[in-house]
Amino acid sequence: MNYEELVKKYQALGIKTPSRSMIKTKEQIEGIRQAGRINTKVLDYVAENIHAGMSTAEIDDLVSSKTKELGGICAPLGYEGFPRSVCTSINDQVCHGIPDAHTILKNGDIINVDCTTIYNGYYADASRMFLIGNVDPIAKRLVEVSKECLDLAVKNLKPFSRLRDIGYTIERHAKECGFSVVHEIGGHGVGIEFHEDPFIYHYGNKNTGMILFPGMVFTIEPMINEGSRQVFLDAENNWTIYTDDGGWSSQFEYTVLLTETGVEILAH
Ligand code: MF3
Ligand code: CO
Ligand code: CO
Repeated sequence: MNYEELVKKYQALGIKTPSRSMIKTKEQIEGIRQAGRINTKVLDYVAENIHAGMSTAEIDDLVSSKTKELGGICAPLGYEGFPRSVCTSINDQVCHGIPDAHTILKNGDIINVDCTTIYNGYYADASRMFLIGNVDPIAKRLVEVSKECLDLAVKNLKPFSRLRDIGYTIERHAKECGFSVVHEIGGHGVGIEFHEDPFIYHYGNKNTGMILFPGMVFTIEPMINEGSRQVFLDAENNWTIYTDDGGWSSQFEYTVLLTETGVEILAH
């Protein structure tokens, strides 16, 4: 069935369908795949070089120099005024931490490094957690569970599955493990722009939401908290999100492509 036929079929069933622009062409997919390869190499480079005693500004330097070397552009720099090339979020920072020379990684920290690469005009977005030295067992478990949440969501993802199944799977696992899911920030379509529709919820009811078609490219990036899911925005920099209760937060992010038969991870 072609796009129009699929839309007709699902709309007759009263199910929301993706817009035409959410379905990437072969050429666009290849472009995003290449951006993803660079993004993955940049995160691998961070993994090899991150250590206690370095500043988050040094991580920013690593990301920006490696991305350039590979022919890419760091999407965060200048994005809606974001001042650096990468997001670095430590401990109770949920996301959108801003690298700076005075923030030094220390033993016991957990840090998310979130890279987005533009290559040939195409975007890919992914993030990973890094454990610095000896980490508190609860924080370690949280990091593990946040990765499991993402991997479970991807494992369950299929063409013609429902959008909210992603969040259902994530929140069920997080809660079973005694943790909570941040609701305010979600995944997103990605590829032609940094943030595209649809919004990817990390919570919700199964068998609800838009039907997902092959050719869709989006991120899944659940933020899992140790304690309460409530968060607040840093009033000074207007970017960084923190847990309300000061508890740990952990996040992994992939860019995924829905294929005719399953899922291809384009950036991790
Ligand atoms: N990379 C983040 C995401 O996963 C967005 C960061 S926006 C920035 O969507 F401006 F802070 F880089
Ligand atoms: Co993202
Ligand atoms: Co990201």
